[in-house]
Amino acid sequence: MTFEWRMSLAFAVALCGAMIAQVMESRAQDTVAATDEEKPYKIAEDGTTDWPTFSGFRRYNSICHTCHGPDGVGSTFAPALTESLKRLNYEQFTEIVVNGKQEVNTAVQKKMPAFGTDPNVMCYLDDIYAYLKARSDGAVGRGRPDKHADKPPEAAEAENACMGN
Ligand code: HEC
Repeated sequence: MTFEWRMSLAFAVALCGAMIAQVMESRAQDTVAATDEEKPYKIAEDGTTDWPTFSGFRRYNSICHTCHGPDGVGSTFAPALTESLKRLNYEQFTEIVVNGKQEVNTAVQKKMPAFGTDPNVMCYLDDIYAYLKARSDGAVGRGRPDKHADKPPEAAEAENACMGN
């Protein structure tokens, strides 16, 4: 093998190595992103919930519970959202809450109202999703969470901006 040959071979090997490293790195990032997407809530080992999950608990149990039952367990009228969120992703969940959903045939007339223009729902949609996902995964039990993180200043700011205060 000539000197030039060996050099280009060494270069090719180095290039391959760099490419493999890059692919592996982007795979690792994908994994992290996927895990984040699956878990919009954070529950500490001692059971302390993060603020969004606690906020979602309060919002859910002041607006959605009238039809979907306390703590997302469902009622004779509307489905258990703890079950629904095993199937629906964030986009699907959002689409239904914004636009509503209706099942009408001769036997049933069930209507999920559209909340797209209701700031009391829209400004807390991510919180409600976090809470219901935590309930659906069994990370949060029924009733009011015992301990929760304080409301961070960013959450208060975002809330004021969203509610137009
Ligand atoms: C007035 C009663 C009522 C209220 C209030 C209500 N829902 Fe619903 N919701 C329903 C009914 C009924 C359905 C089933 C509609 C259907 O199957 O077509 C439904 C369906 C849904 C679904 C789809 C479930 C599935 O398995 O496909 C989601 C998600 C949902 N509601 C979220 C919410 C959230 C979040 C709130 C509170 C912001 C809320 N709902 C408030 C009655 C209600």
